[in-house]
Amino acid sequence: MAQLRAFESAKRTGRAIPEIVCFEKQADWGGQWNFDWRTGVDQHGEPVHSSMYRNLWSNGPKEALEFAEYTFDEHFGKPISSYPPREVLWDYINGRVERSDVKQYVRFSTVARWVEYDAASETFSVTVENVKTGATETERFDHVIVATGHFSTPNVPQFDGIATFQGSLRHAHDFRGAEDLADKDVLLIGASYSAEDIGVQAFKMGARSVTFSYRTAPMGFDWPNGMEELPLVTSFEGDTVHFTNGAERRFDAVVLCTGYLHHYPFLRDDLALSSPNNVYPDGLYRGVVREGSDRLFYLGAQDQWFTFNMFDAQAWFARDVILGDIELPSAEERRAHMDAWLARFAKLESAADQVRFQADYIRDLIEQTDYPMFDLDEVVRIFLAWKHDKQENILTYRDKVYPSVMTGTMAAAHHTPWLQELDDSLERYLSSPEPNGVERLVGDEAAAPVTTAVSPAAS
Ligand SMILES: Cc1cc2nc3c(=O)[nH]c(=O)nc-3n(C[C@H](O)[C@H](O)[C@H](O)COP(=O)(O)OP(=O)(O)OC[C@H]3O[C@@H](n4cnc5c(N)ncnc54)[C@H](O)[C@@H]3O)c2cc1C
Ligand SMILES: NC(=O)c1ccc[n+]([C@@H]2O[C@H](COP(=O)([O-])OP(=O)(O)OC[C@H]3O[C@@H](n4cnc5c(N)ncnc54)[C@H](OP(=O)(O)O)[C@@H]3O)[C@@H](O)[C@H]2O)c1
Repeated sequence: MAQLRAFESAKRTGRAIPEIVCFEKQADWGGQWNFDWRTGVDQHGEPVHSSMYRNLWSNGPKEALEFAEYTFDEHFGKPISSYPPREVLWDYINGRVERSDVKQYVRFSTVARWVEYDAASETFSVTVENVKTGATETERFDHVIVATGHFSTPNVPQFDGIATFQGSLRHAHDFRGAEDLADKDVLLIGASYSAEDIGVQAFKMGARSVTFSYRTAPMGFDWPNGMEELPLVTSFEGDTVHFTNGAERRFDAVVLCTGYLHHYPFLRDDLALSSPNNVYPDGLYRGVVREGSDRLFYLGAQDQWFTFNMFDAQAWFARDVILGDIELPSAEERRAHMDAWLARFAKLESAADQVRFQADYIRDLIEQTDYPMFDLDEVVRIFLAWKHDKQENILTYRDKVYPSVMTGTMAAAHHTPWLQELDDSLERYLSSPEPNGVERLVGDEAAAPVTTAVSPAAS
């Protein structure tokens, strides 16, 4: 969507743009934000793409992901809260491209099956399949942009005895909602965003207990009663789980929050990115141009602090390389550039270092294009304040509000504290409901959203 918008933006300034075809395997766009209730395979037998669950709300403030050239103010026409639910964010990213004339370029329900580079003609042959009709075709392209995401193919480790576990067992990719975890003892293996958010979601929906198991380090939040962190699982024995510190617990449900794999089954191994998930995967010049082919681009292949506005910065850069406005240096110079950034990446010690690194990376990209520069240091401050909020209270951080870096507009406090909000729909979110009977009974203190505006300068 970012790439389509980037070309559209050049077209609006009178530039001639190349012929563009976007192949999207789902029937609609939005990627992860295009929620699918299915798990495993979809109605066409394709792996289900989205890892999102019904009641997912943004886990970072929207002020950190806002597009610099399409603001939340412009889309919603009124201030909204800082942590919107999934449907609201889909509405925002969809709204931007609906207002451009770019849907014409997309062939929906069409999966990229195989991409082959022909050095003689310097073109790619791309074989795609229409998953509705089964029809396949092969077309030639001068450039290929890979924007297939990397949080879709689950990393599923083996644990001794796990096959004997009799409760419910799934990977976060297949998690669709926490309602069935009410009154259950739940184990989440992993110590990152999926574990944190699914665990908190389970708590919200009334799980009896929530236990996290970490491999490297605990998340370290001030967990409420009923939530705890234990080190790595050593083995399962029926519904009993053993941990490396000798602890053993009984569980009804296990969610493997063990992350995702880069997976590009439509590319040969010399062009497919092979990397652990991190903020600077090796083999991508400026995080975008594939080493070994200056005609193959990747968007969003990094681990993401910044998201939508980083994808824009990358898409504008890729566009300008393709339009010839940015001349790529030699392969050796590109390698040296990657090495310099990798050396910097290797020295990062903390999450705050990573955020600053990613801000510098985005700045470097934007400086080379006409994408509107925005105050990246301010976004860094918002990220650091967000981390502080989570440390303060992992159950209420989503009730905080931040000012937009793009417009200065202060976010509005949501009408209902996140922990009490059980309706995640766009309609409910944008409505102004009267307090219900319970809220009236317990009074303003419990019912009112936390309106403390955390000063980004708090960092
Ligand atoms: C559970 C979860 C929650 C998240 N929450 C947030 C959040 O709160 N805030 C935030 O900013 N970010 C969040 N993210 C990060 C998320 O990765 C980005 O916001 C964003 O969706 C990534 O965009 P993308 O286009 O790179 O990849 P994706 O969104 O994954 O989109 C890739 C697209 O490629 C298509 N595709 C894949 N393979 C093929 C093929 N062979 N042929 C044709 N089409 C194909 C897919 O159908 C999909 O539409 C979350 C991610 C996950 C997994
Ligand atoms: N509400 C939301 O917005 C929301 C919710 C969920 C996810 N997300 C997004 O989804 C993306 C992916 O997050 P993620 O948490 O799924 O993946 P992730 O950040 O890559 O984390 C993977 C976790 O799995 C652990 N792990 C991997 N292999 C393991 C093993 N064999 N045994 C034990 N632990 C293992 C890792 O531990 P180590 O640290 O030891 O490597 C790490 O803690 C992120 O962008 C995140 O923001 C967002």
